[in-house]
Amino acid sequence: MAGPLGLRFHVLTFGCQLNENDSEKLAGMLAEMGYSEAAGPEEADLVVVNTCSVREGADGRFFGHLGLLANLKEKSRPGMLVAVCGCMMKQSVHLERVRKSHPFVDIAFGTSDLHRFPELLQRRLSGTRRVFEVGDEDAIAEGLPVVRGFRFRALATVMYGCDNFCTYCIVPYVRGRERSRPLPLVLDELRRLAAEGYPEILLLGQNVNAYGKDLGGADFPVLLEEAGRIQGLRRVRFMTSHPKDMSVRLLDAMARSPNACPHLHLPLQSGSDDVLRRMNRGYGRDQYLGLVAEARRRIPGLAVTTDLIVGFPGETERDFEDTLDLMDRIRFDGAFTFQFSPRPGTPAADMEGPIDAATVTDRFDRLVALQNAHSLASNRTVEGTVQEVLVEGSDGAGTGRASGRTPHNRLVHFRVPDGTAPPPEGAFARVRIERARTFTLDGTWEGPA
Ligand code: SAM
Ligand code: SF4
Ligand code: F3S
Repeated sequence: MAGPLGLRFHVLTFGCQLNENDSEKLAGMLAEMGYSEAAGPEEADLVVVNTCSVREGADGRFFGHLGLLANLKEKSRPGMLVAVCGCMMKQSVHLERVRKSHPFVDIAFGTSDLHRFPELLQRRLSGTRRVFEVGDEDAIAEGLPVVRGFRFRALATVMYGCDNFCTYCIVPYVRGRERSRPLPLVLDELRRLAAEGYPEILLLGQNVNAYGKDLGGADFPVLLEEAGRIQGLRRVRFMTSHPKDMSVRLLDAMARSPNACPHLHLPLQSGSDDVLRRMNRGYGRDQYLGLVAEARRRIPGLAVTTDLIVGFPGETERDFEDTLDLMDRIRFDGAFTFQFSPRPGTPAADMEGPIDAATVTDRFDRLVALQNAHSLASNRTVEGTVQEVLVEGSDGAGTGRASGRTPHNRLVHFRVPDGTAPPPEGAFARVRIERARTFTLDGTWEGPA
Protein backbone atom coordinates (compact mmCIF):
# COMPACT_ATOMS: atom_id res chain seq x y z
CA MET A 1 0.00 0.00 0.00
CA ALA A 2 1.40 3.41 -0.94
CA GLY A 3 2.70 5.19 2.14
CA PRO A 4 2.46 8.84 3.05
CA LEU A 5 6.25 9.19 3.39
CA GLY A 6 7.56 11.68 5.86
CA LEU A 7 4.74 11.17 8.34
CA ARG A 8 5.36 10.06 11.89
CA PHE A 9 3.41 7.84 14.27
CA HIS A 10 3.34 7.15 17.98
CA VAL A 11 1.71 4.10 19.61
CA LEU A 12 0.60 4.34 23.26
CA THR A 13 0.15 0.90 24.82
CA PHE A 14 -1.83 -0.02 27.92
CA GLY A 15 -2.14 -3.49 29.41
CA CYS A 16 -0.30 -6.75 29.13
CA GLN A 17 2.48 -8.08 26.96
CA LEU A 18 -0.04 -9.43 24.45
CA ASN A 19 -1.04 -5.83 23.84
CA GLU A 20 2.63 -4.86 23.62
CA ASN A 21 3.13 -7.49 20.95
CA ASP A 22 0.05 -6.21 19.07
CA SER A 23 1.50 -2.69 19.25
CA GLU A 24 4.77 -3.98 17.77
CA LYS A 25 2.69 -5.26 14.83
CA LEU A 26 0.87 -1.91 14.49
CA ALA A 27 4.29 -0.24 14.36
CA GLY A 28 5.40 -2.83 11.78
CA MET A 29 2.41 -2.12 9.52
CA LEU A 30 2.92 1.64 9.82
CA ALA A 31 6.62 1.32 9.01
CA GLU A 32 5.66 -0.62 5.88
CA MET A 33 3.27 2.17 4.94
CA GLY A 34 6.15 4.63 5.08
CA TYR A 35 5.58 6.14 8.50
CA SER A 36 8.48 6.61 10.88
CA GLU A 37 8.31 6.53 14.66
CA ALA A 38 7.97 9.79 16.63
CA ALA A 39 9.41 10.14 20.14
CA GLY A 40 6.03 11.19 21.55
CA PRO A 41 2.48 12.23 20.61
CA GLU A 42 3.54 15.89 20.39
CA GLU A 43 5.62 15.11 17.30
CA ALA A 44 3.28 12.59 15.70
CA ASP A 45 0.95 12.89 12.71
CA LEU A 46 -0.86 9.74 13.81
CA VAL A 47 -1.32 8.52 17.39
CA VAL A 48 -2.61 5.00 18.02
CA VAL A 49 -3.87 4.14 21.51
CA ASN A 50 -3.95 0.40 22.25
CA THR A 51 -6.28 -0.05 25.23
CA CYS A 52 -6.70 -2.47 28.15
CA SER A 53 -9.84 -3.16 30.14
CA VAL A 54 -8.66 -5.57 32.81
CA ARG A 55 -9.30 -3.23 35.76
CA GLU A 56 -11.24 -0.01 36.20
CA GLY A 57 -8.03 2.00 36.54
CA ALA A 58 -7.03 1.01 32.99
CA ASP A 59 -10.32 2.35 31.59
CA GLY A 60 -9.82 5.60 33.51
CA ARG A 61 -6.26 6.07 32.27
CA PHE A 62 -7.40 5.62 28.66
CA PHE A 63 -10.06 8.33 28.88
CA GLY A 64 -7.56 10.60 30.66
CA HIS A 65 -5.12 10.17 27.78
CA LEU A 66 -7.85 10.81 25.24
CA GLY A 67 -8.46 14.17 26.94
CA LEU A 68 -4.77 15.04 26.59
CA LEU A 69 -4.80 14.06 22.91
CA ALA A 70 -7.94 16.15 22.28
CA ASN A 71 -6.15 19.13 23.78
CA LEU A 72 -3.01 18.51 21.72
CA LYS A 73 -5.01 18.15 18.51
CA GLU A 74 -7.02 21.30 19.15
CA LYS A 75 -4.18 23.54 20.33
CA SER A 76 -1.15 22.54 18.28
CA ARG A 77 -1.66 19.63 15.89
CA PRO A 78 -4.99 20.07 14.09
CA GLY A 79 -4.08 17.63 11.32
CA MET A 80 -3.10 14.81 13.69
CA LEU A 81 -5.05 11.58 13.31
CA VAL A 82 -6.08 9.57 16.39
CA ALA A 83 -6.80 5.84 16.22
CA VAL A 84 -7.96 3.73 19.18
CA CYS A 85 -7.93 -0.05 19.35
CA GLY A 86 -7.47 -2.97 21.73
CA CYS A 87 -9.54 -4.62 24.43
CA MET A 88 -11.71 -1.64 25.45
CA MET A 89 -12.94 -1.18 21.90
CA LYS A 90 -14.47 -4.66 22.00
CA GLN A 91 -16.92 -3.40 24.63
CA SER A 92 -19.79 -1.49 23.10
CA VAL A 93 -20.13 0.80 26.12
CA HIS A 94 -16.62 2.19 25.57
CA LEU A 95 -16.88 2.18 21.78
CA GLU A 96 -20.10 4.21 21.95
CA ARG A 97 -18.58 6.63 24.45
CA VAL A 98 -15.68 7.23 22.07
CA ARG A 99 -18.06 7.61 19.13
CA LYS A 100 -20.35 10.11 20.89
CA SER A 101 -18.14 12.05 23.30
CA HIS A 102 -14.78 12.07 21.53
CA PRO A 103 -15.52 13.25 17.98
CA PHE A 104 -11.84 13.93 17.29
CA VAL A 105 -11.11 10.16 17.25
CA ASP A 106 -10.71 9.24 13.58
CA ILE A 107 -10.41 5.45 13.66
CA ALA A 108 -11.54 2.75 16.10
CA PHE A 109 -11.06 -0.99 15.75
CA GLY A 110 -11.00 -4.11 17.92
CA THR A 111 -8.52 -6.82 18.88
CA SER A 112 -9.58 -9.05 15.96
CA ASP A 113 -9.18 -6.25 13.38
CA LEU A 114 -5.48 -5.57 13.90
CA HIS A 115 -4.47 -6.81 10.43
CA ARG A 116 -7.06 -4.52 8.82
CA PHE A 117 -5.44 -1.37 10.23
CA PRO A 118 -3.69 -0.32 6.96
CA GLU A 119 -7.00 -0.61 5.10
CA LEU A 120 -8.90 1.38 7.78
CA LEU A 121 -6.23 4.07 7.82
CA GLN A 122 -6.29 4.28 4.03
CA ARG A 123 -10.05 4.76 4.12
CA ARG A 124 -9.67 7.63 6.58
CA LEU A 125 -6.90 9.18 4.46
CA SER A 126 -9.08 8.91 1.35
CA GLY A 127 -11.74 11.10 2.88
CA THR A 128 -14.02 8.98 5.08
CA ARG A 129 -14.52 11.21 8.13
CA ARG A 130 -14.55 8.47 10.77
CA VAL A 131 -13.79 4.77 10.38
CA PHE A 132 -15.18 2.61 13.21
CA GLU A 133 -14.86 -1.14 12.60
CA VAL A 134 -15.01 -3.66 15.42
CA GLY A 135 -15.32 -7.21 14.12
CA ASP A 136 -15.97 -10.50 15.89
CA GLU A 137 -13.97 -12.86 13.75
CA ASP A 138 -11.55 -15.01 15.78
CA ALA A 139 -9.03 -15.78 13.01
CA ILE A 140 -5.28 -15.28 13.46
CA ALA A 141 -3.54 -13.01 10.98
CA GLU A 142 -0.10 -14.51 10.30
CA GLY A 143 2.89 -12.79 8.76
CA LEU A 144 2.26 -9.21 9.93
CA PRO A 145 5.39 -7.07 9.92
CA VAL A 146 6.79 -6.31 13.38
CA VAL A 147 8.91 -3.47 14.72
CA ARG A 148 10.29 -4.92 17.96
CA GLY A 149 10.32 -2.83 21.10
CA PHE A 150 13.47 -4.36 22.62
CA ARG A 151 16.79 -5.82 21.48
CA PHE A 152 17.16 -8.12 24.47
CA ARG A 153 13.81 -9.89 24.36
CA ALA A 154 11.42 -10.71 21.53
CA LEU A 155 7.74 -11.30 22.25
CA ALA A 156 6.07 -14.18 20.39
CA THR A 157 2.33 -14.66 20.85
CA VAL A 158 1.70 -18.38 20.39
CA MET A 159 -1.98 -18.46 21.27
CA TYR A 160 -4.78 -15.95 21.36
CA GLY A 161 -7.94 -15.63 23.44
CA CYS A 162 -9.07 -17.39 26.59
CA ASP A 163 -11.82 -19.94 27.28
CA ASN A 164 -11.55 -19.99 31.06
CA PHE A 165 -14.10 -17.37 32.02
CA CYS A 166 -12.77 -16.72 35.51
CA THR A 167 -15.74 -14.88 36.97
CA TYR A 168 -13.88 -11.61 37.60
CA CYS A 169 -12.14 -11.38 34.24
CA ILE A 170 -13.01 -9.43 31.10
CA VAL A 171 -10.37 -11.04 28.87
CA PRO A 172 -12.50 -13.86 27.38
CA TYR A 173 -15.08 -11.26 26.30
CA VAL A 174 -12.59 -8.98 24.59
CA ARG A 175 -10.05 -11.46 23.21
CA GLY A 176 -12.33 -14.20 21.90
CA ARG A 177 -11.93 -17.97 22.03
CA GLU A 178 -8.65 -19.80 22.58
CA ARG A 179 -6.82 -20.39 19.33
CA SER A 180 -3.26 -21.57 18.84
CA ARG A 181 -0.90 -20.83 16.01
CA PRO A 182 0.27 -23.94 14.15
CA LEU A 183 3.57 -25.26 15.57
CA PRO A 184 5.58 -24.97 12.31
CA LEU A 185 4.69 -21.27 12.04
CA VAL A 186 5.65 -20.63 15.67
CA LEU A 187 8.95 -22.46 15.27
CA ASP A 188 9.72 -20.60 12.04
CA GLU A 189 9.26 -17.33 13.89
CA LEU A 190 11.43 -18.45 16.81
CA ARG A 191 14.22 -19.61 14.48
CA ARG A 192 14.08 -16.32 12.60
CA LEU A 193 14.29 -14.37 15.87
CA ALA A 194 17.26 -16.42 17.04
CA ALA A 195 18.98 -15.88 13.67
CA GLU A 196 18.37 -12.13 14.03
CA GLY A 197 20.26 -12.31 17.32
CA TYR A 198 17.51 -12.07 19.95
CA PRO A 199 18.99 -13.77 23.03
CA GLU A 200 15.63 -14.27 24.76
CA ILE A 201 12.10 -15.03 23.60
CA LEU A 202 8.96 -14.65 25.69
CA LEU A 203 6.21 -17.00 24.52
CA LEU A 204 2.86 -15.37 25.17
CA GLY A 205 -0.73 -16.39 25.68
CA GLN A 206 -3.39 -15.64 28.30
CA ASN A 207 -3.36 -19.33 29.05
CA VAL A 208 -0.14 -20.29 27.34
CA ASN A 209 0.13 -23.81 28.74
CA ALA A 210 -3.16 -24.70 26.99
CA TYR A 211 -1.29 -24.13 23.71
CA GLY A 212 -2.28 -26.66 21.07
CA LYS A 213 -5.40 -28.00 22.81
CA ASP A 214 -7.57 -26.59 20.05
CA LEU A 215 -5.35 -27.99 17.29
CA GLY A 216 -5.24 -31.53 18.65
CA GLY A 217 -1.56 -32.05 17.76
CA ALA A 218 1.55 -30.66 19.40
CA ASP A 219 1.04 -29.16 22.85
CA PHE A 220 3.02 -26.72 24.98
CA PRO A 221 5.62 -29.21 26.28
CA VAL A 222 6.40 -30.13 22.66
CA LEU A 223 6.72 -26.45 21.74
CA LEU A 224 9.09 -25.84 24.65
CA GLU A 225 11.26 -28.83 23.76
CA GLU A 226 11.43 -27.76 20.12
CA ALA A 227 12.37 -24.23 21.19
CA GLY A 228 15.14 -25.83 23.28
CA ARG A 229 16.74 -27.14 20.10
CA ILE A 230 17.04 -23.73 18.40
CA GLN A 231 20.69 -22.80 17.93
CA GLY A 232 21.70 -19.48 19.40
CA LEU A 233 18.56 -18.98 21.46
CA ARG A 234 19.81 -18.72 25.04
CA ARG A 235 16.65 -18.03 27.02
CA VAL A 236 13.00 -18.96 26.62
CA ARG A 237 10.34 -17.67 28.99
CA PHE A 238 6.58 -18.08 28.85
CA MET A 239 3.51 -16.56 30.43
CA THR A 240 0.87 -16.87 31.66
CA SER A 241 0.38 -20.46 32.81
CA HIS A 242 -2.88 -21.60 34.34
CA PRO A 243 -2.63 -24.07 37.26
CA LYS A 244 -5.42 -26.26 35.87
CA ASP A 245 -3.43 -26.80 32.65
CA MET A 246 -0.05 -27.49 34.29
CA SER A 247 1.25 -30.98 33.68
CA VAL A 248 4.19 -33.05 34.83
CA ARG A 249 5.15 -33.31 31.14
CA LEU A 250 5.48 -29.54 30.99
CA LEU A 251 7.61 -29.46 34.16
CA ASP A 252 9.83 -32.17 32.70
CA ALA A 253 10.10 -30.29 29.41
CA MET A 254 11.20 -27.20 31.36
CA ALA A 255 13.73 -29.23 33.32
CA ARG A 256 15.17 -30.83 30.16
CA SER A 257 15.18 -27.86 27.82
CA PRO A 258 18.61 -26.17 27.80
CA ASN A 259 17.18 -22.69 27.31
CA ALA A 260 13.91 -22.74 29.31
CA CYS A 261 14.38 -20.30 32.21
CA PRO A 262 13.90 -21.72 35.75
CA HIS A 263 10.95 -19.43 36.42
CA LEU A 264 7.25 -20.25 36.53
CA HIS A 265 4.59 -17.55 36.75
CA LEU A 266 1.55 -19.38 38.08
CA PRO A 267 -1.34 -17.15 39.17
CA LEU A 268 -2.96 -18.37 42.39
CA GLN A 269 -5.49 -15.50 42.81
CA SER A 270 -6.72 -16.73 46.22
CA GLY A 271 -5.79 -19.31 48.83
CA SER A 272 -9.40 -20.02 49.81
CA ASP A 273 -11.13 -23.01 48.26
CA ASP A 274 -14.47 -21.24 48.43
CA VAL A 275 -13.21 -18.10 46.70
CA LEU A 276 -11.36 -20.16 44.07
CA ARG A 277 -14.58 -22.05 43.34
CA ARG A 278 -16.54 -18.82 42.99
CA MET A 279 -13.78 -17.42 40.77
CA ASN A 280 -14.23 -20.51 38.54
CA ARG A 281 -10.51 -21.22 38.65
CA GLY A 282 -10.80 -24.99 38.34
CA TYR A 283 -8.38 -25.93 41.17
CA GLY A 284 -8.25 -25.86 44.95
CA ARG A 285 -5.53 -24.89 47.42
CA ASP A 286 -4.24 -28.44 47.93
CA GLN A 287 -3.96 -28.99 44.22
CA TYR A 288 -2.02 -25.75 43.82
CA LEU A 289 0.28 -26.61 46.74
CA GLY A 290 0.94 -30.03 45.23
CA LEU A 291 1.72 -28.49 41.86
CA VAL A 292 4.29 -26.08 43.28
CA ALA A 293 5.92 -28.85 45.33
CA GLU A 294 6.15 -31.06 42.23
CA ALA A 295 7.54 -28.19 40.15
CA ARG A 296 10.22 -27.42 42.74
CA ARG A 297 11.10 -31.09 43.02
CA ARG A 298 11.59 -31.48 39.27
CA ILE A 299 13.28 -28.12 38.70
CA PRO A 300 15.59 -27.43 41.66
CA GLY A 301 15.91 -23.73 42.46
CA LEU A 302 12.82 -22.87 40.39
CA ALA A 303 11.52 -19.33 40.98
CA VAL A 304 7.74 -19.26 41.39
CA THR A 305 5.80 -16.01 41.04
CA THR A 306 2.08 -15.40 41.10
CA ASP A 307 -0.91 -13.05 40.79
CA LEU A 308 -3.17 -12.44 43.81
CA ILE A 309 -6.51 -10.66 44.11
CA VAL A 310 -7.88 -9.30 47.39
CA GLY A 311 -11.44 -8.23 48.05
CA PHE A 312 -13.27 -10.66 45.77
CA PRO A 313 -17.02 -10.42 46.58
CA GLY A 314 -17.88 -12.45 49.66
CA GLU A 315 -14.22 -12.86 50.72
CA THR A 316 -14.31 -13.35 54.49
CA GLU A 317 -11.47 -12.65 56.91
CA ARG A 318 -11.05 -16.42 57.10
CA ASP A 319 -10.78 -16.68 53.29
CA PHE A 320 -8.20 -13.93 53.32
CA GLU A 321 -6.20 -15.65 56.06
CA ASP A 322 -6.23 -18.80 53.91
CA THR A 323 -4.48 -16.76 51.22
CA LEU A 324 -1.85 -15.51 53.70
CA ASP A 325 -1.44 -19.06 54.96
CA LEU A 326 -0.86 -20.43 51.48
CA MET A 327 1.62 -17.64 50.76
CA ASP A 328 3.52 -18.60 53.92
CA ARG A 329 3.61 -22.24 52.91
CA ILE A 330 4.75 -21.51 49.35
CA ARG A 331 6.87 -18.39 49.82
CA PHE A 332 6.52 -16.95 46.33
CA ASP A 333 9.62 -15.29 44.89
CA GLY A 334 7.43 -12.44 43.67
CA ALA A 335 3.79 -11.53 43.11
CA PHE A 336 1.58 -9.08 41.28
CA THR A 337 -1.06 -8.03 43.76
CA PHE A 338 -4.44 -6.58 42.79
CA GLN A 339 -7.56 -5.25 44.46
CA PHE A 340 -10.69 -6.76 42.95
CA SER A 341 -12.14 -4.45 40.32
CA PRO A 342 -15.70 -5.19 39.18
CA ARG A 343 -15.83 -5.47 35.38
CA PRO A 344 -19.31 -4.83 34.00
CA GLY A 345 -20.58 -7.89 32.13
CA THR A 346 -18.60 -10.42 34.19
CA PRO A 347 -20.42 -12.62 36.75
CA ALA A 348 -18.38 -11.36 39.73
CA ALA A 349 -19.47 -7.77 39.11
CA ASP A 350 -22.99 -8.77 40.23
CA MET A 351 -22.05 -11.18 43.02
CA GLU A 352 -23.31 -10.66 46.53
CA GLY A 353 -21.12 -9.41 49.32
CA PRO A 354 -18.99 -6.63 47.87
CA ILE A 355 -16.15 -5.83 50.28
CA ASP A 356 -15.98 -2.29 51.62
CA ALA A 357 -13.04 -0.16 50.54
CA ALA A 358 -11.46 0.11 54.01
CA THR A 359 -11.37 -3.68 54.41
CA VAL A 360 -9.92 -4.12 50.92
CA THR A 361 -7.17 -1.59 51.67
CA ASP A 362 -6.39 -3.21 55.00
CA ARG A 363 -6.16 -6.70 53.47
CA PHE A 364 -4.19 -5.43 50.52
CA ASP A 365 -1.61 -3.77 52.81
CA ARG A 366 -1.23 -6.96 54.87
CA LEU A 367 -0.89 -9.08 51.74
CA VAL A 368 1.72 -6.76 50.22
CA ALA A 369 3.70 -6.62 53.48
CA LEU A 370 3.85 -10.41 53.62
CA GLN A 371 4.82 -10.73 49.97
CA ASN A 372 7.50 -8.06 50.33
CA ALA A 373 9.05 -10.02 53.20
CA HIS A 374 9.03 -13.16 51.05
CA SER A 375 10.43 -11.33 48.01
CA LEU A 376 13.29 -9.92 50.10
CA ALA A 377 14.04 -13.33 51.62
CA SER A 378 14.08 -14.83 48.13
CA ASN A 379 16.47 -12.17 46.84
CA ARG A 380 18.74 -12.67 49.87
CA THR A 381 19.38 -16.27 48.80
CA VAL A 382 21.54 -15.01 45.93
CA GLU A 383 23.58 -12.45 47.88
CA GLY A 384 27.27 -13.22 47.40
CA THR A 385 26.72 -15.35 44.28
CA VAL A 386 27.68 -14.57 40.69
CA GLN A 387 24.66 -14.46 38.37
CA GLU A 388 24.30 -14.51 34.60
CA VAL A 389 22.49 -11.27 33.70
CA LEU A 390 20.93 -10.47 30.34
CA VAL A 391 21.41 -6.72 29.99
CA GLU A 392 18.22 -4.74 29.39
CA GLY A 393 19.80 -1.32 29.28
CA SER A 394 22.14 1.15 30.81
CA ASP A 395 20.82 3.16 33.76
CA GLY A 396 21.80 6.40 31.97
CA ALA A 397 24.70 7.61 29.89
CA GLY A 398 27.87 8.06 31.91
CA THR A 399 26.41 6.59 35.13
CA GLY A 400 28.57 3.48 34.90
CA ARG A 401 25.48 1.44 35.78
CA ALA A 402 23.29 -0.97 33.86
CA SER A 403 20.50 -3.41 34.63
CA GLY A 404 19.17 -6.74 33.50
CA ARG A 405 17.67 -10.02 34.63
CA THR A 406 18.93 -13.32 35.94
CA PRO A 407 17.54 -16.61 34.55
CA HIS A 408 15.18 -16.64 37.58
CA ASN A 409 13.86 -13.25 36.45
CA ARG A 410 15.43 -11.26 39.27
CA LEU A 411 16.10 -7.66 38.29
CA VAL A 412 19.74 -6.64 38.90
CA HIS A 413 21.24 -3.14 38.90
CA PHE A 414 25.00 -3.30 38.58
CA ARG A 415 28.05 -1.07 38.44
CA VAL A 416 30.82 -1.43 35.90
CA PRO A 417 34.39 -0.60 37.00
CA ASP A 418 35.70 2.86 36.13
CA GLY A 419 36.91 3.04 32.58
CA THR A 420 34.82 0.05 31.43
CA ALA A 421 31.91 0.76 29.07
CA PRO A 422 28.63 -0.74 30.34
CA PRO A 423 27.70 -3.86 28.32
CA PRO A 424 25.09 -3.14 25.63
CA GLU A 425 21.43 -4.14 25.70
CA GLY A 426 21.16 -7.81 24.76
CA ALA A 427 24.64 -8.78 26.07
CA PHE A 428 25.18 -11.34 28.83
CA ALA A 429 27.18 -10.32 31.89
CA ARG A 430 28.52 -12.06 34.98
CA VAL A 431 27.46 -9.98 37.95
CA ARG A 432 28.45 -10.46 41.59
CA ILE A 433 25.40 -9.83 43.77
CA GLU A 434 26.26 -7.66 46.75
CA ARG A 435 22.98 -6.57 48.17
CA ALA A 436 19.39 -7.82 48.05
CA ARG A 437 16.47 -5.41 48.11
CA THR A 438 12.76 -6.23 48.00
CA PHE A 439 12.33 -5.87 44.25
CA THR A 440 15.89 -5.67 42.95
CA LEU A 441 19.47 -6.78 43.51
CA ASP A 442 22.59 -4.60 43.52
CA GLY A 443 25.84 -5.96 42.11
CA THR A 444 29.11 -5.42 40.30
CA TRP A 445 30.01 -6.46 36.77
CA GLU A 446 32.69 -9.17 36.63
CA GLY A 447 32.89 -9.79 32.89
CA PRO A 448 30.94 -11.11 29.90
CA ALA A 449 28.98 -14.34 30.36
N1 SAM B 1 -4.43 -15.22 32.01
C1 SAM B 1 -3.68 -14.91 33.13
C2 SAM B 1 -4.21 -15.72 34.32
O1 SAM B 1 -4.93 -16.61 34.17
O2 SAM B 1 -3.85 -15.42 35.42
C3 SAM B 1 -3.58 -13.41 33.38
C4 SAM B 1 -4.78 -12.58 33.16
S1 SAM B 1 -4.84 -10.92 33.65
C5 SAM B 1 -4.26 -10.07 32.29
C6 SAM B 1 -3.59 -10.67 34.83
C7 SAM B 1 -4.09 -10.65 36.23
O3 SAM B 1 -4.98 -9.58 36.42
C8 SAM B 1 -4.88 -11.87 36.64
O4 SAM B 1 -4.09 -12.95 36.92
C9 SAM B 1 -5.61 -11.36 37.85
O5 SAM B 1 -4.85 -11.52 39.01
C10 SAM B 1 -5.77 -9.88 37.55
N2 SAM B 1 -7.17 -9.51 37.26
C11 SAM B 1 -7.91 -9.88 36.21
N3 SAM B 1 -9.15 -9.38 36.31
C12 SAM B 1 -9.20 -8.66 37.46
C13 SAM B 1 -10.20 -7.92 38.13
N4 SAM B 1 -11.43 -7.80 37.64
N5 SAM B 1 -9.88 -7.32 39.31
C14 SAM B 1 -8.63 -7.42 39.82
N6 SAM B 1 -7.65 -8.12 39.24
C15 SAM B 1 -7.92 -8.74 38.07
FE1 SF4 C 1 -8.76 -14.02 32.67
FE2 SF4 C 1 -8.89 -16.38 33.84
FE3 SF4 C 1 -8.50 -16.22 31.22
FE4 SF4 C 1 -6.57 -15.50 32.87
S1 SF4 C 1 -7.41 -17.56 32.67
S2 SF4 C 1 -7.27 -14.39 31.06
S3 SF4 C 1 -7.69 -14.62 34.58
S4 SF4 C 1 -10.34 -15.62 32.30
FE1 F3S D 1 -5.67 -5.83 29.27
FE2 F3S D 1 -6.53 -6.97 27.11
FE3 F3S D 1 -4.19 -7.70 28.15
S1 F3S D 1 -7.77 -6.44 28.85
S2 F3S D 1 -4.47 -7.31 30.32
S3 F3S D 1 -4.67 -5.73 27.32
S4 F3S D 1 -5.66 -8.99 27.08
